Amino acid sequence: MKTVSGFSKMSKTEKINWLASQFQGKTAEEVLTMDRFWHPDAGEQSRFDEFAENTLTNYYLPFGVAPNFIINGKSYTVPMVIEESSVVAAASLGAKFWQERGGFHARVVSTKKVGQVHFLWQGDKKVLKDFFEDNHATLLESVSSLAENMIKRGGGVSSIALLDLGRELENYWQLKMEFETCDAMGANFINSILEESARQFQALIKTNDLPAAEIIMCILSNYTPDCAVEVFVECPIDKLGTFSNDMDARTFARRFQTAVEIARIDRSRAVTHNKGIMNGVDAVILATGNDFRAVEACAHAWAAHDGQYRSLSSCTLSNDTFRFSMRLPLALGTVGGLTTLHPLARVSLGILGHPSATELMQVAAATGLAQNFGAVRSLVTTGIQKGHMKLHLLNILHQLGATDKDKENAKKYFADKVVSFSAVRQLLQEYSETRN
Ligand code: MEV
Repeated sequence: MKTVSGFSKMSKTEKINWLASQFQGKTAEEVLTMDRFWHPDAGEQSRFDEFAENTLTNYYLPFGVAPNFIINGKSYTVPMVIEESSVVAAASLGAKFWQERGGFHARVVSTKKVGQVHFLWQGDKKVLKDFFEDNHATLLESVSSLAENMIKRGGGVSSIALLDLGRELENYWQLKMEFETCDAMGANFINSILEESARQFQALIKTNDLPAAEIIMCILSNYTPDCAVEVFVECPIDKLGTFSNDMDARTFARRFQTAVEIARIDRSRAVTHNKGIMNGVDAVILATGNDFRAVEACAHAWAAHDGQYRSLSSCTLSNDTFRFSMRLPLALGTVGGLTTLHPLARVSLGILGHPSATELMQVAAATGLAQNFGAVRSLVTTGIQKGHMKLHLLNILHQLGATDKDKENAKKYFADKVVSFSAVRQLLQEYSETRN
């Protein structure tokens, strides 16, 4: 690949042409047709172009909904953006199942977010600690004008602490700040306050004739264990109903609880179990224009908070009650950023009734739990492939260019058979030979 300069200044067409010129054959042809996915309205397209740099085209993902969610007695149809078959189906089934059993119960535990000014400082530790004690109110006051709007909305900086971490790394200190960011995810607000606090901190240090602090970096932490939601479903074991192959409620409950316990103790299973939860959570995060990388990073760090990576959800069977629950840190926003800019994120928030950030946290967590319930339910009853393959079949048929009629016939044919890529290809070949 040739070095290119001025790439970012090129128009989209020039960028596509340059990229295509680096290849030959099919790849070059395909790159040249990337403009097929541009939005027909140039104004709309330029909005997408500006979300990131060097945009060439749009990358489509399915936007679906999972109806029948009851969360704290309120009914929701949950928007989900995800490319994987079975996920929306499993969340919908989970929602329907619990709709008839009291729905999901969710509560936000707290909404504290954290930011850190990481710095090096060499000197008598007691001197810096005393200085901080005497000056931290002044420091907070000095950034208050930046926080004015957030304070009006009920948020702002809620605390600032000086942490001595010299035992971990020589001369390493932190200003650890806590924030309330109301309905905003708050990354920009937090980072601006942190950078201003670092400047003011350095200025105060200078005024007090202390050795200078070397600021290494100022950044929010995406680990937000205190911006968390708890969600659960429960019902008498006998009300769970019966499952495939005549599995009774007690057997199901025992097998389900065992499966969740396995995910608690075994890391390899825990990762897959949690991936199932995040299938649901991420789909809501994407649909509402939130930051799925932040949510993912935090969820997995939380899953290991006691030192071992474990399942995020847990299941208990006591007093004849089946209870399936989860605590999940989730830092979400419903105003600002992509939530406002992306037209489909706005639609999603509209479908959810324009929720506050805390309401959205509850919806996302409930969707994760519904998804987890659906997946583990399949695993301990029919096995995962039955439902999965039915939807996967559609993808294979599409990939092989099947006609609508062949798709219908293939669906009937595979209703009671194992789906595999080669079996589908062979069947389509037979259909084609019969026609000729
Ligand atoms: C697939 O995307 C998710 C599952 O593997 C989750 C699980 O195993 O619990 C089905």
